[in-house]
Amino acid sequence: MSAISEASVTVEVNGRRYRRQVPVRRLLSDFLRHDLGLTGTHVGCEHGVCGACNVRVDGELVRACLMLAVQADGRRVQTIEGLADGELHPVQRALLEHYGLQCGFCTPGVAMTLSSITERAPLDDEQISEELSGNLCRCTGYAGILAAARAVAGAAPTPPIDPGEDAQR
Ligand code: FES
Ligand code: FES
Repeated sequence: MSAISEASVTVEVNGRRYRRQVPVRRLLSDFLRHDLGLTGTHVGCEHGVCGACNVRVDGELVRACLMLAVQADGRRVQTIEGLADGELHPVQRALLEHYGLQCGFCTPGVAMTLSSITERAPLDDEQISEELSGNLCRCTGYAGILAAARAVAGAAPTPPIDPGEDAQR
């Protein structure tokens, strides 16, 4: 008896239905990036540590590097490409306004985390920090990310950082 090495996966991603034949060991992150060409989901550590690959599956925030594509069969996936609806999503606007992105590598994962936590707003600072603890930013842009999170999660709003002012320091 030979082991099953491939399987058919049918998944709805950002409102569009896809059906693909994939190796059973294909990670969801690789499936999204390589099979569907949705490269907005970034891969940093591939160990579930950095949060760069965060997507939402049936509304739940998940690390796409810790899930197999076959586990997403029959489910709804939202990636960063599906966050904006014609206009920037409020979390994307907040990240922009609060200077919460530098190189942008962690930004898709952060935005997906924020989209998830805003649905449970209001959150206090401690809860926001806890929620964001799963996102690592190698540019250490946490002040801006936290300000953006506070702005959309209902904690006391932080005034946007003025990049010009910052640059003069
Ligand atoms: S790439 Fe998935 S958590 Fe880092
Ligand atoms: S903005 Fe560069 S890794 Fe976070």
